[in-house]
Amino acid sequence: MKILVTGGAGYIGSHMCAELLRLGHEIVVADNFSNGTQAALDGVKKISGSDFPFYETDIRDENALEKIFYEHKIDCVTHFAGLKAVGKSVSEPLEYYENNLNSTLTLCRTMRKHGVFRMIFSSSAATYSPENSVPLTEDSVLGATNPYGRTKIMCEEILRDLCIAEPRFSVVLLRYFNAVGAHESGLIGDCPRGIPNNLMPFISQTAAGLHSELKIFGNDYNTPDGTCIRDYIHITDLIDGHVCAIEFSAENAGCEVFNLGTGRGISVLEMVDAFDKTNGLKLPRSIAPRRPGDFPEAYASPEKAEKMLKFRAKKSLEDMCRDTWKFQRNVPSEMR
Ligand code: NAD
Ligand code: UD1
Repeated sequence: MKILVTGGAGYIGSHMCAELLRLGHEIVVADNFSNGTQAALDGVKKISGSDFPFYETDIRDENALEKIFYEHKIDCVTHFAGLKAVGKSVSEPLEYYENNLNSTLTLCRTMRKHGVFRMIFSSSAATYSPENSVPLTEDSVLGATNPYGRTKIMCEEILRDLCIAEPRFSVVLLRYFNAVGAHESGLIGDCPRGIPNNLMPFISQTAAGLHSELKIFGNDYNTPDGTCIRDYIHITDLIDGHVCAIEFSAENAGCEVFNLGTGRGISVLEMVDAFDKTNGLKLPRSIAPRRPGDFPEAYASPEKAEKMLKFRAKKSLEDMCRDTWKFQRNVPSEMR
């Protein structure tokens, strides 16, 4: 198959590219480098030992997208391109709505025009209301607490409506929980620009000496050790979920939504301790006040994905910690 990977120079997209090439598919990559890097694309080339067409373009640019679909007979699109920083989406909502909605709309219009009807869409657990009880199922109440999450809800609705209006479309919406870890080669991984907001990159950068200590945001939540609980899923597992989704989309028209998580809640303290233990380190850490907007507990029910996609996460907490640290020690200077 020939698969268009939008946002393929980013964290998740680059892992998707490496896996698709490993499976013998052809890929075409589009990214505007707003957050992705050439180093990630170079990493994919090294891992796969092969080259692929890359378009440095904003996928809101309809003419540029036209050119891609004109030059390649695309079978399926994996749509990762989007802005994802929750805090920035609060201070710059227009940029987020503009980018995440218009990129999806332009992509859908161009796909339809060229007779391409299969899409795997990167949604998020950020679409769920914090009022839900855990585990979160695909039927849990939606209600994002920030503009980023709302762009994902809106894109889901657009794609659902499109599938109703045009039954040839087959769209799989994947609600990711917390993606962590890196490719086993250590050549690609999560490398946020500036100071990371997310836990795992902050942990690994602290271990690398880039920050003086890790601040644990709150230890007075109503959880067993007082710190927040999340569902961390290894990037390799997350990508396996996409491969299952691509297969599913070949046989099922319409729009279907799935959680991609492990179903296992891990607290911040458990994660830090696991990182130390796995890598033989002792991270400097302190307890800091709660981070505004955080909620105590979120983890997935993985049942629907297990039943319908035949997907189950396999990697352990130790795999997540080992691979994150391996990548951090390898981070090329141009990715920092
Ligand atoms: P990322 O920022 O590393 O990758 C996104 C890529 O899209 C970047 O390379 C960026 O340059 C590119 N991009 C953004 N807007 C574009 C546009 N208009 N045209 C072309 N390229 C554009 O993020 P990621 O962690 O790889 O996430 C991929 C997708 O998954 C995003 O849509 C994100 O919202 C979603 N998601 C990620 C997580 C996570 O834990 N990382 C969780 C839930 C959902
Ligand atoms: C955040 C986003 C979510 C996004 C996800 C993955 C919010 C409200 N949600 O989720 O939309 O899908 O990232 O990109 O921002 N923590 C610390 N110290 C740190 C960093 C984090 O203690 O330096 C704690 C947080 O308080 C939280 C946990 O670690 O309890 C996980 O945080 P993070 O990695 O930011 O993920 P989420 O908040 O779950």
